[in-house]
Amino acid sequence: MCGIFAYTGRKNAVPILLDGLSSLEYRGYDSAGVYCPASGSVKSVGAVGNLLKNIDGLSGESGIAHIRWATHGEPTEKNAHPHRDCTGKVWVVHNGIIENYLDLKKKLAMKSHRFSSDTDTEVLAHLVEEHLKKKKSFEAAVVQALREVRGTYGAVFAYETEPDKLVAARMGAPVVLGLGSHENFVASDPSPIMRHTKDAIFMKDGEVAVITPDTHTVYNLNFDRIDRAAEKIEGDAEAIKKGGYRHFMLKEIMEEPDVVKNTLRGRLLTKNGLAKLGGLESVAERLRGVKRIIIVGCGTAYYAGLAGEYMLEGHAGLPVEVEVGSEFRYRKPVLDNSTALVAISQSGETADTLEAVREAKRQGILTLGIINAVGSTIARETDAGIYNHAGPEIGVASTKAFISQLTALALLTLFLGRQRGMSLAEGKRIAEELTRIPEKIASILKDERKIKAVAKKYKDCRDFLYMGRTYNYPVALEGALKLKEISYIHAEGYGAGEMKHGPLAMIDGSFPTVAIAPSGSVYEKMLSNIQEIRARKGPIIAVSTAGDKMMRQFASDTMFIPETIEMLSPLLAVVPLQLFAYHIATLRKLDVDRPRNLAKSVTVE
Ligand code: M6R
Repeated sequence: MCGIFAYTGRKNAVPILLDGLSSLEYRGYDSAGVYCPASGSVKSVGAVGNLLKNIDGLSGESGIAHIRWATHGEPTEKNAHPHRDCTGKVWVVHNGIIENYLDLKKKLAMKSHRFSSDTDTEVLAHLVEEHLKKKKSFEAAVVQALREVRGTYGAVFAYETEPDKLVAARMGAPVVLGLGSHENFVASDPSPIMRHTKDAIFMKDGEVAVITPDTHTVYNLNFDRIDRAAEKIEGDAEAIKKGGYRHFMLKEIMEEPDVVKNTLRGRLLTKNGLAKLGGLESVAERLRGVKRIIIVGCGTAYYAGLAGEYMLEGHAGLPVEVEVGSEFRYRKPVLDNSTALVAISQSGETADTLEAVREAKRQGILTLGIINAVGSTIARETDAGIYNHAGPEIGVASTKAFISQLTALALLTLFLGRQRGMSLAEGKRIAEELTRIPEKIASILKDERKIKAVAKKYKDCRDFLYMGRTYNYPVALEGALKLKEISYIHAEGYGAGEMKHGPLAMIDGSFPTVAIAPSGSVYEKMLSNIQEIRARKGPIIAVSTAGDKMMRQFASDTMFIPETIEMLSPLLAVVPLQLFAYHIATLRKLDVDRPRNLAKSVTVE
């Protein structure tokens, strides 16, 4: 989704800005642009690299830059940010949506403002222009303009007349200030800042910051000064490199054994069958009284939540409901104070999940986060939580984050289960098996070439069906999502028991089904469902437990996973499906890290 980077200092801003935009590319975008008050603007459709064709005349010691993911107006040069006012002196980059922009546009047009784009953003520059006409300072004009706006924004304004001053603002879309020595930065997430400084201020909603190379001042929307201390950005800029892999997605899949170790690190008391979760200590007593859990998330995070439902109901005896954030926020949920909401999000910025958290908070219930991005908005707004510690995930298709979400949910199950009568023996069994998961994932990854061979065989199929039961029903949904989002092949996930209620009608010799059928309580039921498909000549690609001779007979192709306890089987079963999707997409020569139409961080509704 859109990304912002801005710089003011003593160096040439242009390479710094371009480099910053490159580190935001993972968010997914369709056009890009840069404005330097000293020399002008350059915009282009497509990759940041396309800006280079026209960048020669651009220079200066400050500037604002943006990658855009189209919401209002097509992805064209005209609609790419930065946007300007009528005088060409006020420029703005913006993430979010100005909800009353049509109204504002009409009023501004009546005052003779002329617009050059179809975006909602452009009204911001014209509003500032209006207030500058009233002899207000640049920063006061921005504050006044923002008071007229309804919607969400993370924005940075530049003004040709005061080239070294930038004004940043936040309302519902993340903004981070990076504080350097004789240079300051603004960005929509810490990644482009980290390579310059670790000192940062994570702005809050309703704050406006004015930065010059040597100063930074934060105001509220009444234009009162606010004291905001800097904090250290956690993480490592190096972690955001491909490390010799062709794609971030493959690198991130290969990191999964370490990801599980990192999510577990210091949190398992194996001998006592307990999970020690520092992030939940402050609410541990409140959690004892919780009688119902609602999990919210979107996409992959939602599917992790579904697996969490089986874990928590099966082992902690807690009723659980799982819902996508975009539905939860609009359905007037009935919550009472014995309910807790668990928000799952890799980025911690997904607008739908964030609004679900806010709705739960409005109703006064306990909110927890399972979040990967440290310091992100959801992490800050929830009462307590579990950080995934999966490291930055750059590939748009979520892989290692899913694995870490499942691991965190298993820890939560252990934590809540032991509060509620899970036996020591059961606690130890889960804890011990969790410690074995990294080596088991590593052994699946060693089969990458075999999985690639299966992908080669099926790469030209038009449709796929994925089916599983209980714990592996969410894995079927996630496997199908992985395939469709990076290969653009139609894929649907189903509970295997549902096949005969409709989808079976689609099956024929050209329609493969991926059956997730490891050993466990529903294995035989899965075998029956597989037979039903075979009877209609449907090819079966099975994910099954190593040594399963029966499956070799029934399936056209098999991807094996090691034996584990049923509750943890999704942590293994999803891995071959991630590799399968990756190889199908790369064999089809697609850009797996940046699939079309998608963004990494979905900060609009
Ligand atoms: O950052 P989040 O975990 O909140 O993101 C949620 C979804 O947008 C995300 O999982 C999306 O479905 C992925 N592209 C799936 O691979």
